Amino acid sequence: MGEITAPAAGADELVGRSPPIERLRAEIERIARHNINVLLEGESGTGKELVARLIHSQGPRSDKPFVGVNCAAIHESLLESELFGHEAGAFTGAARATLGFLRCADGGTVLLDEIGDMSGALQSKLLRVLEQREVIPVGSTQRIPVDIRVVAATHQDLLQAVADGAFRRDLYYRINVVRLYIPPLRERPEDVPLLAERFSRSIARLLKLPHRRISPAAMKILREHDWPGNVRELSNVIQRAYVLGSGLLIEPGDLPESLTDRGSSGKNGDFPTLDEQVCRHVRNALTQAGGVRTRAADMLGIDRTTLWRMIKRYDLRI
Ligand SMILES: Nc1ncnc2c1ncn2[C@@H]1O[C@H](COP(=O)(O)OP(=O)(O)OP(=O)(O)O)[C@@H](O)[C@H]1O
Ligand SMILES: [Mg+2]
Repeated sequence: MGEITAPAAGADELVGRSPPIERLRAEIERIARHNINVLLEGESGTGKELVARLIHSQGPRSDKPFVGVNCAAIHESLLESELFGHEAGAFTGAARATLGFLRCADGGTVLLDEIGDMSGALQSKLLRVLEQREVIPVGSTQRIPVDIRVVAATHQDLLQAVADGAFRRDLYYRINVVRLYIPPLRERPEDVPLLAERFSRSIARLLKLPHRRISPAAMKILREHDWPGNVRELSNVIQRAYVLGSGLLIEPGDLPESLTDRGSSGKNGDFPTLDEQVCRHVRNALTQAGGVRTRAADMLGIDRTTLWRMIKRYDLRI
């Protein structure tokens, strides 16, 4: 939902040597020092939040807060007061006044994640904040100056949303001073080995386990996978290999079946049974959710108990 990060030594690093990532790295460096709003577009898990943090940490505001707000994860009725703050007693349950995320980010950077999910009414209020550089907390008439840099992120095509009338054109141009697009991992397979090795190292450190290199056969599978969950999925796959396997190398057997059984056919020749498809789909959800069952259940649109039954039925322990 919303997260405030204290200034920290930048452990974040954009890994990759593909032309689009090299270009992105140069663009981040160029724009970070200017106080301009940035729009980040890219599929889920491509690194939008990482790029937002880099823009913040490489710029002049790096000693001020970085605040990330996921506009899609906060209920519409709450988002306004979460962003702009509210007065005590502004609505039922608002016992104490709050600052709101924008004022918490004063002097720093705010990442408005999934901005395409913001309601029309809130889009208008945000536009006002960006134009006037002040917020009016819910239930108040006081105008409070704020100095924020906005990095907005979306997995949607925001220009299309503008054309469809779902997103305000004036707000689009206000946030899109610079637009950065992060291509999906399947379009830059040359980054996979570098990312996989980097994740293997950091996960080994995190879990206090001996580092495992990735065997050439396993690497071939990783390179050829199409990564619908992008870099996050790759990180989860490596993490899973550490949790479930052992040995000096990460081998194909340590990878989820959803990666290794490409092209293999079920009982009916080329046509997989419904059971096989369901099993694969649930396994993919679990992998993408990093084994977090509540999240996987949400992704699948089922409750946790149903997911638990499927895990038992298909023997899917991730
Ligand atoms: N090029 C990269 N180098 C190193 N780590 C990366 C890279 N791209 C993504 N990651 C890592 O992958 C994970 C997912 O990235 P991130 O959260 O930034 O994606 P996102 O685009 O914001 O996803 P979502 O749309 O689902 O919010 C994070 O742990 C991030 O650090
Ligand atoms: Mg994100």
